[in-house]
Amino acid sequence: DMMREVLGLKELEKKIKNRLQLRDVIVVAGDSDQSPWVKKEMGRACVARIKELLEGNTIVAVTGGTTLAAVAEMMTPDSKYRDVLFVPARGGLGEDVKNQANTICARMAEKAMGRYRLLHVPDQLSHETYQSIIEEPAIKEVLDLIKASSIVIHGIGDAKTMAERRKTAPEEMEKIEKNRAVAEAFGYYFDQEGKVVHKVNTVGIQLEDVQKVKHVIAVAGGASKAKAIKAYMKQAHHSVLITDEGAAKELIRD
Ligand code: F6P
Repeated sequence: DMMREVLGLKELEKKIKNRLQLRDVIVVAGDSDQSPWVKKEMGRACVARIKELLEGNTIVAVTGGTTLAAVAEMMTPDSKYRDVLFVPARGGLGEDVKNQANTICARMAEKAMGRYRLLHVPDQLSHETYQSIIEEPAIKEVLDLIKASSIVIHGIGDAKTMAERRKTAPEEMEKIEKNRAVAEAFGYYFDQEGKVVHKVNTVGIQLEDVQKVKHVIAVAGGASKAKAIKAYMKQAHHSVLITDEGAAKELIRD
């Protein structure tokens, strides 16, 4: 903690917390755009925070992405995880297998020696299939567990980066660009005011649900994500933000 004081990380945390009006902010040293290990440091900080929040039968919902994959890698077993259930926050969002919420959820639970349930739902669904799939008992059961989660851990991405990574269809791409989306989280795209301008249709947690979850932790760093983080957080004041120095310095600029 002495070291964090010397590095000025505590000062950065205080400033961001006040400026973005968040429940809490944790800043780790470095910039994950430059050094890959910084993602693991955010992961370590996130794991420590999760452990503080666990109480009895907690359901922890997680999203996908490389940052959440780093959180999963840093997870360590703890007797506290015996009664914890990990679930993916939402169904498929067009990510590669390694970045999917299901993969990360299973990995995290294995590392924690906790339990998990997965969502087996295809990415792109027609309206009719969607309606019938959410009534399937096995799916419905997992969806109910997701809705009952008291901890949600999620990533935030730059809108354009995410739309491209997901190989978004041209008409959707146009909509995202025309509406000036700058941030993405949970399959929702946000403009710089934090207003939703587009969403990917899939099952699981919806943005309205996120706002009601007891503990929400956003994990996102790198100077290149500062704009996205700032925009997303405009509608997520009850969240805890875990970020890095690279993003933090940009967040307090001007
Ligand atoms: O696609 C899942 C997701 O969590 C997105 O909501 C988010 O924008 C992205 O991954 C973050 O990915 P990364 O941590 O790789 O930047």
